[in-house]
This record gives sequence, C-alpha cells and structure tokens, in this order.
Amino acid sequence: MDDLTDVFDDLKQGPLRMLEPLEQAIFCQRVEQFWDDALRPLTLLYACHPHFPTWLSRFLHLTARAYADRALDLRLLDLRRLNQPDWFQQSRMIGYVAYADRFSPDGTLTGVAAKIPYLKELGVTYLHLMPLLQPRPGANDGGYAVSDYRQVRADLGTMADLAALAAQLRQNDISLCIDLVCNHTAKEHEWAQQALAGDPDYQAYYHTFPDRTLPDQYEQTVREIFPEFKPGNFTYYQPMNRWVWTTFNEYQWDLNYANPAVFAEMLDIMLYLANQGVEALRLDAVAFMWKRLGTDCENQPEVHAILQAFRALSRMAAPGLLLKAEAIVPPPQLVPYLGQGRAANKECEAAYHNVFMVMLWSALAERKVALMTHALQQIPAIPANTSWLTYARCHDDIGWAVTEADAAAVGLNGYLHRAFLSDFYSGRFEGTFARGATFQFNPKNNDRRISGSQASLAGLELALEMGDSQGVGLAIRRILLLHSMILAFGGIPLLYMGDEIGLLNDPSYLDDPDLAHDNRWLHRQFMDWKAAARRHDPDTVEGRIFTGLQKLIRARKAAFALHGRARSYPVWTHNERVFGLIRESAHGRMLILANFSEWGQVVSRRRLDEMGFSGALVEKVDGRAFDPYSDIYLEPYQAMWLEKV
Ligand code: GLC
Repeated sequence: MDDLTDVFDDLKQGPLRMLEPLEQAIFCQRVEQFWDDALRPLTLLYACHPHFPTWLSRFLHLTARAYADRALDLRLLDLRRLNQPDWFQQSRMIGYVAYADRFSPDGTLTGVAAKIPYLKELGVTYLHLMPLLQPRPGANDGGYAVSDYRQVRADLGTMADLAALAAQLRQNDISLCIDLVCNHTAKEHEWAQQALAGDPDYQAYYHTFPDRTLPDQYEQTVREIFPEFKPGNFTYYQPMNRWVWTTFNEYQWDLNYANPAVFAEMLDIMLYLANQGVEALRLDAVAFMWKRLGTDCENQPEVHAILQAFRALSRMAAPGLLLKAEAIVPPPQLVPYLGQGRAANKECEAAYHNVFMVMLWSALAERKVALMTHALQQIPAIPANTSWLTYARCHDDIGWAVTEADAAAVGLNGYLHRAFLSDFYSGRFEGTFARGATFQFNPKNNDRRISGSQASLAGLELALEMGDSQGVGLAIRRILLLHSMILAFGGIPLLYMGDEIGLLNDPSYLDDPDLAHDNRWLHRQFMDWKAAARRHDPDTVEGRIFTGLQKLIRARKAAFALHGRARSYPVWTHNERVFGLIRESAHGRMLILANFSEWGQVVSRRRLDEMGFSGALVEKVDGRAFDPYSDIYLEPYQAMWLEKV
C-alpha cells in the first residue's frame, strides 16, 4: 500500500462517500500523516498473516467509518485539541475519579450531571467515571468484566445518557474519561459464549488450550495477580473441554491480539466510544495484552505495537481522543508506554505513576524521604507531549513497588521495608497512625498489598475514634500534603472521590455477597453528600480538607511553572525528612519542599542557594514572602511551592 491513491479512492467510494469533498480530504490527509505510524506496528503484529493486506484495509475502513459517523461538535473538539496539543498538560487540568453509581445522588448518569456544580467548585476539569459498560451479572471485578462494550450498565442509564453526560460535561469544560477493558472480556461476552459453544473462530479470540501442556509451561514464568481469588492463570471449561487464559478472575478471559480480528473489534469499540463524546480512554491492564512463552508475558514489544496502532488509527478518526495506559509495572517497563525512540509521543499520552504514589506512602510511614528521592531520580524522563497521571489513592490496592536496588541504595532492605509498609498500613505496626487491610497475601513471596481510603491510611480514622484532636489535625495535614504533592509533581492529578472531604474506610461492602470477598471495596465508598454539605464549615474535618484542597488547586491553576512539560526532578534538601522537587521549564522554575514528618523542619538558606533559589522567595499557595537570608522553616507535614520573586 505504498501509494495511497487507490486507498483513498476506495474509501471515498466506501465509508466516506456521504461526506463533503473537504471532509473527505481532511480524512485522507490524516491517513497520509499517520499512515507510517500505523503501518509500522501493524506490520510487526500481523505481516505474517496470510491476509495481511485485507486486514489493513479492514482497519482503515473501520476508521473511516468512525470518522464519517463523528458528530459535528466532536469534530470541532478535534480541531480544538489539534490547535492546542498541550491541553492535557496544562496546570488547569484537575482530575476526579468516581464510580458513577456511588457518586450520583440517585445512582444514575443523569444524577452525575446534577453534581457538575460540585465538581466545578472544586476546580475539576477531567472526570474519570469508573467502569460503566455492561458487566457480567454478579461479581464483576468492579465492572472490569465487560459483557457488552456498546451498552451502559442498565441501572446507570443508556448509551444516549452517557453521550448526553459527556456533552454536558464538555460544556462545563470537563473532559469525560471512561475505562476500556481491552485485555479481557467477561466470559459472558458474546464472543466468549460463542467460543464456549464450540465456534473455532471465536475460540481464536482467546487463548485456549486443549490440555495443560502449554499452560504448565507458561506458569513457570508468569505472575499471579490475584493469588487469593484465583491461583494460577488458567481455567478449565468443561463445555468446550479447553483451558482458557484468565490472568485475573476466572470469569475474565484474556483476549488474543495475535488474531487481527480481535484488534479490529477493539479498534471499532474504541472509536465507537470516542464518538459518544468520551474524550479519554483508560486502557485497562495493557501490560498483559501479548503472551510469549518463557517470559513473564507482560510488556512485550507487541503490546506497544498494539497501542501505537490504536493511537495512529484513532488519530485519523478522532484526533481529540486521549489514550491512557494503566500499566502497574516497574518504571523501566512503564515509560515505554508513552512511546520510546521512534515511537516517542506516538503511543499513549498518559500513564499512571504508580511508583510516585507508593513513595508518598512509604515516606509518610518512615518520616524519611531518601528512598522517594532516590527512586524518583532513577525514573527516565518522559516524551515532551506526554504526561503522568499522579494520584495518592485509587480504586485499587497499593502494592509495594520498592525495588531491592533502590532500597539498598539508601541503606534499606527491600524485603524488610515492604514488610514494614504492609504492617504499617494494615494497622499492625506498633504506633501506626494508619487503618487499612491486607489485600492478597501471597505466601510464596510474603507480598501483602494494602486496601484502605486515603483518610484512613493517613490517620484520620484512628484519631477520630480516639477523640484525639491533635491527631485529627496531623491527619488532615498528611492528607493535604499528599494532595499538594500530586498537584505539584507534574501531570494530571487525579483526586479520588471522597478524598476531598476525608471519607473513611467503609466496611458496608461486607454485606454484599458479590463484593464481600474483595476488600478493595473498603475504599470504594459511596459519596457522603451529607458530609460534603459541611465542606464550607471551617470547624469541620470536611471543611478543613476541602478548603485546603481548593486553595491548592487554585494555586496550581495559576502556576505556569507546573505545566506538564516542565521537567520534574527530585533534589536532596540535606534534611532527611524534607522532600525537594524542582520543576523547570521556559514557563518558570519552582522548588517544592515537603516535610514528611510531624516535627518542624528546617532547610538551610545555603542549600536553597545551591539549588538555585537564592534571593527573596514567595510561596505560591499562601502568598507568603521569604527574605533572602533566612532559612526556611516547615511546620509538621507542611509543603511549600517556592518561586524566586
Ligand atoms: C486493573 C484494574 C483493577 C482490575 C484489573 C483487572 O488493574 O484497575 O481494578 O481488577 O485491571 O481488570
């Protein structure tokens, strides 16, 4: 397909035929622009396939059809995004993540729209609604077992409601993000049902095996993700007498992307969702999308090829669409999801910064920042047109991503430190402030992940229970410190629903038989709108957290130095309890200092001079000025965003 003229003619007679010549020309121009970016990865994936040219043409046709179907307002959005490619890197971006039914007062998508004023009050510009496409009945891993990608969960509303909500959010300058669970489907999905019924074409949509020979070989090298829920990575299904690859739960079947039909289906779904007005897709569990014997079957080169091809093709049909990678893997394997080498800026635009989140909690428990400083210094820079997603809590557990090498570099033992963090945050460690629970104990490696809400892990639950007002004050300071860090680090900060008012762990999930086995529901609370109503009262916990956070958000939006493109690099402050971070770009230069202890701390003027922050300084959140001579004193858990005057 070197000469695209025939391709264009074919498209103009096919999916583009109803469009005006200018609209057709725009699409053809985009094909020209992104053709190489699509062809390279697709060649890696499918060139050995006997019908490769036919598949290529199929992918293009799907893409052209999605372009032709794209509504006018969304085409305008595309133009806006193309004119402002750094839109998601600007400091005005503030993300909020919620389960639609748990956030909405009436449990529906329409009810979510009713709460737009609340989101605006907080300063939110980006809303990620947790899985809302039709899941399997019963237990469904929080919606991550989808049985129909073109239907919204019935109790939430319809696809038309979702499109209406996306439009309403957009009018309010809020971009809607939803999950695309692209690694696996529910076993109730039509494709899986056809496979179970014996259809070989659909069996080829999944990784299925006639016996244990290959599964046993794969098991030698792959991880167990949910060792308590379901040991092993394969499940036997009697109706078709085959084993199926099930990385997560038994009812989540891994898709086989070696089959181009699977790629075509997912591309079509992706563009369909974009055409509903969804502006960003969180691509779930992408690391697992390609299997190779003898490896851990994560982060394989083909996974990157799949994502690059998705991006190049989606740029042709819906260039405004943002792709986010959810890959909870070590940094050397994570950064390539933002594109590397030739593919830099050509894969996903954003990725979750898991290590930063882990380091925040580690520093809080230890009251020391050496590990965080060192570990973050090791992380390679990311391509200029991409961004991190920073967060302190999310819907998942916290897994202690502390490597042996990073721990050793600062005099810690990785194994013991991870064990300490698990003890600390599950509430077992003597004197801990945290209230959390152990998630998925793996006796093979003593891995113990942690569940718990931000506020409970930060000490609010315990302090309130003890009637300890000083403890409550410290917990609120920890919560604001965490928020300050995710707002300043660089990238789109994601506030997790309820954290803005300090929602505690909610054990009510234990009453629901579909949820009771999974303690991640401890921190997937229902929004407490009564508590939220207290957010303007400065004498309440809610008021102290909400207004503190609002102030931070306002300061972030006004701070050009916090643009996502600004370099972000940790520095040693020469105080082991104070984390230092420099943000630097043509937009400005900022020094973030953060005291991770409950004791007052000092950073010396001399050290500030060495870091290039001599002279008078101003703190951008409170507006406080510092003369050129004094040391900087930080109160317990205080963070400062300093700029030269
Ligand atoms: C992602 C989700 C997690 C889910 C898993 C399987 O990691 O964040 O909640 O259990 O994928 O879909």
